[in-house]
Amino acid sequence: AAKKLLILPGDGIGVEVMAQVRRIIDWMARKRKIEFEITEGLIGGSSYDVHGTPLSDETLAAAMAADAVLLGAVGGPKWDDLPFDVKPERGLLKIRKEMGLFANLRPATVLEALADASTLKNEVVAGLDIMILRELTGGLYFGQPRGIDTLPDGTRKGYNTLVYTTPEIQRIGRVAFDLARKRNKKLCSVDKANVLECTVLWREEMIKLQKEEFPDVELSHMYVDNAAMQLVRNPKQFDVMVTENMFGDILSDCAAMLTGSLGMLPSASLGEADAQGRRKALYEPVHGSAPDIAGKDMANPLATIMSFAMCLRYSFDMAAEADLIENAVKNVLKGGLRTADIMQPGKAKVSTTVMGEAVVRELDKL
Ligand code: NAI
Ligand code: MG
Repeated sequence: AAKKLLILPGDGIGVEVMAQVRRIIDWMARKRKIEFEITEGLIGGSSYDVHGTPLSDETLAAAMAADAVLLGAVGGPKWDDLPFDVKPERGLLKIRKEMGLFANLRPATVLEALADASTLKNEVVAGLDIMILRELTGGLYFGQPRGIDTLPDGTRKGYNTLVYTTPEIQRIGRVAFDLARKRNKKLCSVDKANVLECTVLWREEMIKLQKEEFPDVELSHMYVDNAAMQLVRNPKQFDVMVTENMFGDILSDCAAMLTGSLGMLPSASLGEADAQGRRKALYEPVHGSAPDIAGKDMANPLATIMSFAMCLRYSFDMAAEADLIENAVKNVLKGGLRTADIMQPGKAKVSTTVMGEAVVRELDKL
């Protein structure tokens, strides 16, 4: 059956980078005979301008019906002063919530040609290829009770709660072990089991899952403070890491900076598996709508192009096609083409469009 793809370019450079992804999708349809049924929709500020809401019921329904959603970015100064509940970012939060996307995959890879872009020494990061899996709908960011209270003596008290139930730990655990199984069969679960009971439970459940369902995957554990240190000291010791929502927020941003450029980082967010094992899924670059360079044909489209590669790999089980895209990107960079954000001395500075075209040309050669 045709693969149902919903494309939501969003705002700012989201529109520009998604136009380049369309070229890659067209190439896959033409050359690899993949049937896509593509719908395009509005989200964020561009949706607010037309419908008065950053996420319309039609777009949400299309997302729920799609096999995968590809998103650019939302937001921009034009909509900064809107009321809180119609801000562009609310549209993004709502679609993630409605789709039940509890697993956030953030790869951090350092392509050989870009190892100099990192602030760390070349030998520490060259060839880095790790995957951080962040639990996205539970943990400290969602736990109840929460709030700010005033006590009878006038003292104010702010509090949040770290909560996970066993089903929540098991479902993120299964995604993590599955990922590890598809990569190098090594999973590191990050917790703070020396201080936080909730993460003692997390660790126990990970151990149980490994024993009962994934004996072929090697499981290790690390405290989050040590994990932060190890990520900067020697990131290549890791392969797949899985962790609690806030820990993952912090660790994935830290890992992102190991790679040196926001314009290169893809992501995937997955929901619960249905009876056929298919998961709702949304793929998007880590970066935002970059108002400072929007409309100038300057943005790096590679993060969004590689998000589409993740879509092929994780939603459509097309590892060979995903590899093709990733190799085409590597070759373009090896050939010396750079958008402004990843510019290096002696390399050719090119536009968003030229970068997209170059990836397609490389695909033709592979
Ligand atoms: P941003 O990621 O849009 O930009 C940060 C800096 O990185 C800017 O200097 C930008 O030019 C540069 N940059 C980002 N992506 C790039 C690319 N592909 N190629 C070249 N350079 C790139 O983050 P910022 O400035 O904090 O937010 C701008 C707007 O985007 C805000 O409205 C914010 O709310 C929204 N935003 C949306 C996100 C999303 O849709 N997932 C995520 C982050 C921010
Ligand atoms: Mg963050």
